[in-house]
Amino acid sequence: MSEKAACTVIVGCQWGDEGKGKIVDVLAEEVDIVARYQGGANAGHTVRVKDDQFVLHQIPSGILHEGKRCLLGNGVVLDIERFFDEYDALRERGLDLEGRVGVSLRAHLLLPYHRLLDQASEDSAAEKIGTTGRGIGPAYEDKAGRRGVRVADLGNPERLAQRVGEAQEHICRRLEQAGRRTPEDLDRQIEGALTLGGRLFALASDTGREIADALEAGRRVLLEGAQGTALDLDHGTYPFVTSSNTTAAAAATGTGIGPTAIDAVVGVVKAYTTRVGEGPLPTALEPEMDDMLRRLGGEFGATTGRPRRCGWFDSVLTRFAAQINGLTGVAVTKLDVLDTLPELKVATAYRMPDGSVTDRFPADTWSLTGVEPVYESLPGWQAPTSGARRLEDLPKRARAYLDRIEELTGAPVEWVSVGTKRSQTIPVG
Ligand code: IMP
Repeated sequence: MSEKAACTVIVGCQWGDEGKGKIVDVLAEEVDIVARYQGGANAGHTVRVKDDQFVLHQIPSGILHEGKRCLLGNGVVLDIERFFDEYDALRERGLDLEGRVGVSLRAHLLLPYHRLLDQASEDSAAEKIGTTGRGIGPAYEDKAGRRGVRVADLGNPERLAQRVGEAQEHICRRLEQAGRRTPEDLDRQIEGALTLGGRLFALASDTGREIADALEAGRRVLLEGAQGTALDLDHGTYPFVTSSNTTAAAAATGTGIGPTAIDAVVGVVKAYTTRVGEGPLPTALEPEMDDMLRRLGGEFGATTGRPRRCGWFDSVLTRFAAQINGLTGVAVTKLDVLDTLPELKVATAYRMPDGSVTDRFPADTWSLTGVEPVYESLPGWQAPTSGARRLEDLPKRARAYLDRIEELTGAPVEWVSVGTKRSQTIPVG
């Protein structure tokens, strides 16, 4: 994060799981507020602090730093039950959360019927997306369909009951169309979630105003994205995407500040590529190598436990991410996972099914299934990197790999992560 940047966005540049949680945790040290701008409990950030491991789904990773204010912006779909599971678990582990968590009055609520519809839609879909099953798609559908229930509605019981009733009716019709019976205890499930409404409402605020005031007062803010660029609803591998805009521009709409308030955008890229859920992964590895990298990198979903598919570094995608997000810098994570490999490949272009070669990320998702990556081969460094604390501590070949990532992506590498601990983060330059 540049010395002067008051407001920085942290965004994933691949298919999520790039290690944003750790980078946010490290950078949070230098800021006053950390705010999430989209997504919900589909995200899963694993952060290690000393010997403790924390998995966060909705609360920003900044919460692990004493005194930092953490906000959930209006762009988030907030699962109240999951939210308080997480909140209470953090408190039980000794964190002082008093006055530290705020939720936007404009954020939408994710209620039990959204999860039901998510699962039913996946089961009956001809083309499966492989969602996390957390109800994200249906909650954003309700938001766009103007049936959504917002945190602000919790302040008016009558209006809340009416809006929940309408949304529930709509979802039950959709469940019926999908051949599902509405569970008999659905009312009880919804009531259960809404009993936490008062507790949530007590945390509600105008988060956009709060961020704008903080910036005006010279304080620093980090806006934290979930998922990654290739899962963005507009720019990702549609329809195999999540249902929100994950990219940097959404940080403004999803928190309630103007785009000109953003000073820097740090893109997080893993030193290789992974994907969980359905959809194309152009640089996917052969099964044996795929297994090995998954094992080396511990590539299993933090939310669902699903194994992630692994691939070589794809610079066609990261260059596209640099463009869409307006990256001012890059954080490369999990470099140490590649320590033992004798040879590394980097995709520099795609050979399309019609034989043409392009270095642009194609809009037609189905053509991506048939592309053949054009690879460049780089020698592995075959030496441990997890003890490195400065760039100079890294083997020459590891630095050459980072230089190539920087060159192909088109944005300067500012951070390199070589392990799960905070101390295993190398500031560059
Ligand atoms: P949804 O966000 O649960 O609707 O899932 C849509 C797609 O995004 C699926 O392919 C999921 O696997 C993927 N996805 C959602 N959240 C994450 C995440 O935090 N990391 C990686 N993939 C995710």
